[in-house]
Amino acid sequence: MEIQGRVVVVTGAGRGIGAAMCRQFASAGAERVVVSDRDAESAWSVAAELGAAGLGVACDVGVEAEVQQLVASALETCGRIDIFCSNAGITVKGGVETTNSDWQRMWDVNVMSRIYAARAVIPGMLQQKSGYFVQTASAAGLLTEIGSASYSVTKHADLALSEWLSVCYGRQGIRVSCVCPLGVETDMLDDGDPIHRYLHLHAITAESAAAAILKGIEAEEFLILPHPEVLDFYRLKGENYDRWLRGMQRLRQKLTW
Ligand SMILES: NC(=O)c1ccc[n+]([C@@H]2O[C@H](COP(=O)([O-])OP(=O)(O)OC[C@H]3O[C@@H](n4cnc5c(N)ncnc54)[C@H](O)[C@@H]3O)[C@@H](O)[C@H]2O)c1
Repeated sequence: MEIQGRVVVVTGAGRGIGAAMCRQFASAGAERVVVSDRDAESAWSVAAELGAAGLGVACDVGVEAEVQQLVASALETCGRIDIFCSNAGITVKGGVETTNSDWQRMWDVNVMSRIYAARAVIPGMLQQKSGYFVQTASAAGLLTEIGSASYSVTKHADLALSEWLSVCYGRQGIRVSCVCPLGVETDMLDDGDPIHRYLHLHAITAESAAAAILKGIEAEEFLILPHPEVLDFYRLKGENYDRWLRGMQRLRQKLTW
């Protein structure tokens, strides 16, 4: 899908990858870019940079009523939504001992947010016979994130939902892309964590990630891989699951020793 003239909504866009996406959507000629974030100030500040194209809206994507309100504001101001980017995401370190309330928070922000958005946006997209969902999952959705069980599980779920949306709505003009980066230099990477330090070694900038995302949307690619090597790792996993698991066990031991 061409970006020129489109109405785009991006969640979690007050900083990091989402903010870089908004700037690049505006430079590529989007008609309107709705910059949304739980942190209203940051959303307004990125929107202000975009001039007339920018519209800042506060939205906590883990709360369905707020996602409905975001969609209603975008429709009221811009008339339609062409591209909805569910980008907001969080992480919590740890394994199965992660508290139930943290698991729930991860589930709400990383997964339910995408379902709330799809519910609110699909009717309009079906009516206009076109639309695009871009879901920022992670390479952890194809592979795993050694340091966080809840991140790995919720990002797999995001990928599963993306596939399902594509299968069910592809024939009705709705496109879906699932973005699966490895490390990206944003506040999410915590240098105090040995696994994040390892990810940092191969990290790309938020601007490079956003450029890969826009290119993927223009090409209408389902799987957007800002780090092309992720496809090799995914192939290795598919070819021999047990060998891949042994390799990941070795890596975990090396990084956490
Ligand atoms: N940085 C990485 O290494 C990396 C790698 C793979 C995938 N990702 C994914 O990319 C996406 C963007 O991450 P980032 O690296 O830019 O992170 P970031 O922490 O720099 O930015 C995330 C933004 O989301 C906002 N946010 C958090 N919770 C929210 C909520 N409930 N509602 C609305 N906004 C909320 C934050 O205020 C922040 O502005 C996430 O889904 C993340 O999982 C990041």
